[in-house]
Amino acid sequence: MTSLSKAPVTIILATANPDKVRELRPLLEGIDPRFSVLSLAEAGVQIDIEETETTLEGNAMLKAKTIFSLLNGRFPSMIAFADDTGLEVRALEGAPGVYSARYAPVADGGEPTYKDNVTHLLHEMEGKRDRSARFRTVIALKGIIAGKGGPDEVAQKTIEQTIEGAVEGTLTTETDGSSGFGYDPIFMVAAAGKTFARMSGDEKNRISHRALATKKAIAFLHSIH
Ligand code: IMP
Repeated sequence: MTSLSKAPVTIILATANPDKVRELRPLLEGIDPRFSVLSLAEAGVQIDIEETETTLEGNAMLKAKTIFSLLNGRFPSMIAFADDTGLEVRALEGAPGVYSARYAPVADGGEPTYKDNVTHLLHEMEGKRDRSARFRTVIALKGIIAGKGGPDEVAQKTIEQTIEGAVEGTLTTETDGSSGFGYDPIFMVAAAGKTFARMSGDEKNRISHRALATKKAIAFLHSIH
């Protein structure tokens, strides 16, 4: 009978965004000594992956697959771990959603700053009574786990999975707080009564959309390894 080995699995964080690495690393590290976590920089990869898909699921899997193909073969067992997050505002029919990073128009066609996006969203929300919104994170896992079977037999398990986590809240009318990143200063978390930008890193990491999705991803990884 073949079985997967309990050999170490390298998890590659398929993001070049240092804010995300800062949040994801403590969530993933220490979950299990069998899993070790590397950022793209630590894996020696410098790449800017263009998010060309129209859904969070599509973009997350695009990033995971790209990094997996680049690094496949470098580690016996490896999982590319990518997340794509969007802020979905009910009064704006789900916008900015998958386009959250590129929401505000910028003159030179470049990438808007976090501040540009926040200012633009507050402007778009002027006069709207329903300010409810949610953050939704989709994590995509693409990988391979090596295993051992009989003496001449090697089993491998391939992994291709998406997992989501979401947090409900409302948009404030002005920025409140300075921690976190992105839209955190205007997102009032319903369950906490304060914005993400008023929370410490640990507090946000206990309840955030990314944390919820990551916990589900960890449960999934445990179930397969
Ligand atoms: P990404 O495509 O997953 O990198 O995220 C798109 C945009 O959503 C980012 O540029 C941020 O503006 C915003 N974003 C993602 N995650 C968060 C978060 O945890 N808090 C606030 N804004 C976020």
